[in-house]
Amino acid sequence: MLAILMFVLAYLLGSISSAILVSRLFKLQDPRTHGSNNPGATNVYRLGGAFPAVLVLVFDILKGTIPVWGAYFLQLEPLVLGLVAVGACLGHMYPVFFNFKGGKAVATAFGALLPIGLSLAGLLITTWLIIVAVSRYSSLAALVTVLLAPLYTWLIKPLYTLPVVFITVLIIFRHRTNIVRLFAGEEPKVGAKKAPTD
Ligand code: G3P
Repeated sequence: MLAILMFVLAYLLGSISSAILVSRLFKLQDPRTHGSNNPGATNVYRLGGAFPAVLVLVFDILKGTIPVWGAYFLQLEPLVLGLVAVGACLGHMYPVFFNFKGGKAVATAFGALLPIGLSLAGLLITTWLIIVAVSRYSSLAALVTVLLAPLYTWLIKPLYTLPVVFITVLIIFRHRTNIVRLFAGEEPKVGAKKAPTD
């Protein structure tokens, strides 16, 4: 029962779209209908610059970390911790408060995996930074990082590999338009003036 309650709470917290709220606060264009049409930190950076984007990033990370930490302190089983992590990501992707039209959950997934440990977090951040530095594509960095996340998890805490695989599949699915643009050579690089249109 507690497991279901934590899953629902994680989903509801994940459903709070910080990109939309921060954009309203800073009177920016709606990230759901401008830029890549994605309510996430990368698109808020495109539309409003670094400060609002960092706020979105931090909020979205915490949406993943808080419920997983909560479940951990309640001494719920590892499988339940994984379910709570999936709940937070599903909330971000399909938010009940915003007509089920959400983002790609890269930051929320990272936040949800943070409680596994700093070594995993370090590997994920390093991978993301290397790919973004080399390619200048935020989406490619996210895709490579989530593809490697199950391997990293298996090496560090094998018990959590299955939920991480599930999160990876969800995130890749949410990046399908980015993948098409990357193959077509139409994905905008970080800092590029021209925004993509989904
Ligand atoms: O983390 C989101 C990123 O991978 C893609 O964002 O706005 O370029 O679709 P965007």
